[in-house]
Formats: sequence, C-alpha cells, structure tokens
Amino acid sequence: MKSVAVLPGDGIGPEVTAAALDVVEKLGLPLDLRFGEIGWECWRHEGDPVPQRTWKLLEETDTCLLGAITSKPLREAEAELPSGLRGTGLTFVSPVIQLRQRLSLYANVRPVIDLVDRRFDFTVIRENTEGLYAGFDFHGLDDALWNVVREHPNAQASGPRATGVTLRLQTEFGMDRLLRYGFAYARSRGYTRLTLVDKPNVLRHTSNHLRERLERMAGDYPDIETEILNVDAVALWMVRRPERFGVLVAENMFGDILSDLGAGVMGGLGLAPSGNIGDHGSYFEPVHGSAPGMAGQGRANPMAMMLAVAQMLDHLDLSVPGDDLRAAVRAVAARRTTVTYDMGGTSGTREVAQAVTEELAAEKNASDTVDEVVDRLSRLDTASVSDALDSLGVGGVLAGIAPRVPGTRAAGRAFTVTYQPVDDSAQGFRNAANYLDDVPEGAFVVVDNAGSTTCTNWGSLLTRLALRRGVRGTALHGSARDIAEIRAAGYPLFSTGVTMVSGKNRVELAATGREVVIGDVTVRPGDIVVADDNGALIVPADHAVEVADRAERVEHTEEAIAGAVGAGLRLDEARRRFGYAKPWDDSGARTSRA
Ligand code: IPM
Ligand code: MN
Repeated sequence: MKSVAVLPGDGIGPEVTAAALDVVEKLGLPLDLRFGEIGWECWRHEGDPVPQRTWKLLEETDTCLLGAITSKPLREAEAELPSGLRGTGLTFVSPVIQLRQRLSLYANVRPVIDLVDRRFDFTVIRENTEGLYAGFDFHGLDDALWNVVREHPNAQASGPRATGVTLRLQTEFGMDRLLRYGFAYARSRGYTRLTLVDKPNVLRHTSNHLRERLERMAGDYPDIETEILNVDAVALWMVRRPERFGVLVAENMFGDILSDLGAGVMGGLGLAPSGNIGDHGSYFEPVHGSAPGMAGQGRANPMAMMLAVAQMLDHLDLSVPGDDLRAAVRAVAARRTTVTYDMGGTSGTREVAQAVTEELAAEKNASDTVDEVVDRLSRLDTASVSDALDSLGVGGVLAGIAPRVPGTRAAGRAFTVTYQPVDDSAQGFRNAANYLDDVPEGAFVVVDNAGSTTCTNWGSLLTRLALRRGVRGTALHGSARDIAEIRAAGYPLFSTGVTMVSGKNRVELAATGREVVIGDVTVRPGDIVVADDNGALIVPADHAVEVADRAERVEHTEEAIAGAVGAGLRLDEARRRFGYAKPWDDSGARTSRA
C-alpha cells in the first residue's frame, strides 16, 4: 500500500483533483490517499501557504499529488493578509518553490507528448532547486553586490538603491545530479538523444561549466547522443520539429519557459503534466496554474491532472494502470466528443472524467474478449483460419514470410514496429530494438523493414528478452539471424529471409504502434497474428470473433469428413453431407449432422 498526500490547493485545483481521483478510484489501486491543505487560503488565514501540518503530512507519505496553487506578486500577497499579520515581515514564497527547494526535488519532469497523433514524444527535465529561482533576487544593493555591478554604465547612472540584481546559481552538485537524472531517464525510456538547453553564446562561464559536466558524464552513456543548443533555438525547433527531441535538460528558468511552450505544442496547458522528483521525495502536478478566474465553474480540463496521476503511478511502480489511464485519456482526447472548451469542446470537468472512466472500463472489457478470441485462434491451424478469412473476403496471408522454427505455432495481438534505413547524420549505435521493453505480454511482434534481407532485425538476444516478456512470436518483413539459437529456444519466428549481417547502424526505429503494410495486407496494432508451419497471417481485430467461429467449423467439418471416410463413406458423399464447401454456413454442417 502506497500513501499519497493529496493537496488540492485552490482555484481550479480542487475541481481537477476531484475529477482525476474519481477516475483513479475506478482503477482500484492499493493507494492510501491522505488529504491536506496548501496554498492561497492558508496564506490568507494563517500567513503561511504551507502550514506545518502539511509538511508533516508530506513527511509521512510516499508521494504527493498537488492540484494548483495561486501565487501572487509581493504587493498583492501582502494586501490579502489578515490585518493582524500585515506588516509583520511575513513574505509570501510560492508554495511549489518551497516544496521543490526544501524537499530537494531537483528534477522537474515535464513530458510533452502528442496525445492524439503520436508525432512527437519528448520530455523537458528542468532543474528545480537553483538557477534564477535560487532566491538571490535583490532590489537595492549592499556593498558586496554593488561592487559586482558598479562598472556597468546603467548601474552608474542609477546608483545602488535604484539597481536590482538576480543571481543565477549554478553548482556542480546541482548540475551533476540533474544531468545524471536526465541520462538515466533517457536510458530507461528508450530515448536516444539528450539535449542540453543553455545559452553558451552569452552566459559564457556558467554555460562552459555546465558543458564540462555534461561531457564528463556523457562517457558513461555511450548509447545516448548529446548536444548543447541555445535556448532560443530550442524554442524555435520545439515548434517546427518537435519530433527531433528526446530528453531536454535545462536550468530552472529556461525549463520553466520551455515547458509552457511544450504545453502549447501539446495542445495547451490543459494537457501538460509534471513530476517533481528528488532522491527522497516527489510530488506530481499539472503544469497549469490555479486559474482563479475560472474556479468553481466546472469547466477546467482535468486531463493534465489525470496525466500527472499517470506519471505518479509510473513513479510508484504502478506503470500498468498508469499506462491504462494514459491510454484512456488519449482515446477521449482523440475522439473529441467529450472535451473541454480549450480543446474545442463544450463538456465540463466532470463529464470528461466520466468519459475517461467509461473508456477505462471499455478497454478492460475489450482486452478480456480479445484475450479469449486469441486463445481460440491459437488452437486453430492457419489453414482453417485462412479458409475462414477467405469466406469473408478478407486477405491476411503474409506472403513470403516463412516459418524459421519448425513445429512452433502461436497467436497474439500485433505489436507493430517500423524500421527505416539510418539517415546520414546519424552517429553511433541507435538502439533500434529498445522498443522490446514496451511490448506487452501476449503480443506478437510484427516488424516492417520493407522486406529487406540485406541486414537483420532480429536475433538471439531479442529472442531471449521476448521469451522473458511473454511475447508470443515475431513476424519479420525482413531478416533474422542466430537461427540455431532461436530454434533451440523453440521461439516462433517467421521472416522474409535469413542473413548474418547486423542491422546495427544500418536501420533505425521509425515508429512503433503504427499501421504497417506488408504485401497487400495491412496490419493494425491489435490485429491478431496467427502463425504455424504454413506461415503467418493477420486476422483483423474487428473480424476476429467471426473468423474464429468459422475456422472452428471448418475444423469440425474436416474432422467429420475424415471420420466418415474412415468408416467407409465415399469422399464426395462425405463432403456433400458435411457441407465441405461452406462449413460456416449453418444449413451445411448442422443439418447434415442432424
Ligand atoms: C511552474 C510554475 C511555477 C514556476 C510558479 C507558480 C512559481 O510556473 O510550475 O512552472 O515558475 O516554476
Ligand atoms: Mn511555469
């Protein structure tokens, strides 16, 4: 049982929190939710936006879910204090900044994903404890600070009292732990590029220091390509070519700005989640603020909060329900029938929550029935399944993809993988097979390498991992190697060809989960692959039950014919009697048997 401090906050925070928790409740997870207070109301009544009791709650729980909190500038904050507390020297410090700094939550992880079209998927990892947010922000300078800036002509013209300074704190301690987190995150999620976002052409010394730290650490992660880009250029590319990014690591303020930009690229702040993570604590929140003007109207988009919950579940090692929740949010977002105003809809917060809950239930049912039909198909010969497909006028045979391990048979839901030749600018090993970490149990991997047999897309190492993950088999529109080991492992492998040439640095992953076309067959993720010594074929998901029904009748009919012939009946008579030509036709097999 994991405990979660739930701090709904103020503004629209409580509404989106309630909506997300309604959905979470349906997941039936082992979570102990403990509610607490934080934010503007605490400031207004107690002069402290993060009361002691809340710190205590944070200490006692495994992680925290935060709604949203209003932060106001100096003057407005003072004005809203109760009269007894005004002028007593209390200053409002943004609660989220207090949490981040006091709990040392140094990595602010903000995924930017294309929920609907999946064109891009990158993550901004923002430094969260230092940089321009370290709190060294002064108006009116003492001698020490004045000595630093006094030569500047504008400072000369203003004098120390009329000059302000903010220091960008950048420490090796802070940089190293952030970079390490960034590399580890990239590796664990299969990202192959880490972009350090900075401003080396202007902030020459601090940027150079950061660069040296990056270069030192990059040696430990040869599988991850690194680059350093100016923050302004990153802003441009994030809009123009978001698909080029993997993990972006940035100092606090740059990361703050870029993550709002990222939210814009995703389709708005209503969709962007974040996690604030340290070595001994974490909290998860939507990137959006409290939108006080919208509070209480029930119009706010709860999706960012739901995605923040999904991120939290990943963090708590509950990544399967996390993925399910994300998938349900994706589906509701893609359908666009039940979305809030910011996504062009008219639905309210609660209705969106309801739609996501229903989607979760529907996905659960669908996967139950799919499991059942996969089970039935796995007991049938491809010959009967092919007859059944024929009878429905559906193709499906993966022509030219031959069995490589005699005597194996398998059926499973297609997990599609598309390869492309490595582009010229590529350097180093591309980790073209890391997708395997994400293949769900029971899936059948279908790899599209355009039928090329000049290099491989599969071998013994992948076979071993596939077996461990409960993958049912692999069909390659391409080549495999290590056939002897794969045979010894008894793994159902089907391919266009066999060659010994490595695919390393010759092909790279273009996509997973995308529709692929092999010969004249379209394979959609979730279609069912059935394969045996005859070869491999695809049963479209929406025909699967009917195909299984018909294929079972084909097999019963053939058994019946074989039995009758064995008992002395003429073959032509047996075929006629048992309806060989159309066994799926009720008037055939059934009447004859009667
Ligand atoms: C964010 C917010 C905060 C920040 C504010 C509320 C202090 O904009 O989480 O991005 O600047 O970090
Ligand atoms: Mn921000």
